[in-house]
Amino acid sequence: MERHLACTVDEMGKGTSRTLDGDVPVALFRSDEGEFYATADSCTHEQWSLGEDSDLEGDEILCPLHMARFDVRTGRPLCFPATIALQTYAVEIEDGKVYVIR
Ligand code: FES
Repeated sequence: MERHLACTVDEMGKGTSRTLDGDVPVALFRSDEGEFYATADSCTHEQWSLGEDSDLEGDEILCPLHMARFDVRTGRPLCFPATIALQTYAVEIEDGKVYVIR
């Protein structure tokens, strides 16, 4: 596990997400409250980039392709058609920079 610089806090507005490239792409989310979360980028139902296109509603990621929902904190699937959890990653904030541990 290594700490990877993702962006600065100021580069991500509240309520936004982005995809971080890598061997396994990661979706980085910033909630409306300003908290950062990181999960696997691809929806576990089919292939869909959650960092590129999803909605974060409270603690729930909504995949727009077939409307699966996941808990952004744990990756747990919350409704059909998703049955497999998303991998989650720790996020650390230091000196205005956002790091993902993976
Ligand atoms: S690909 Fe996400 S719900 Fe089907």
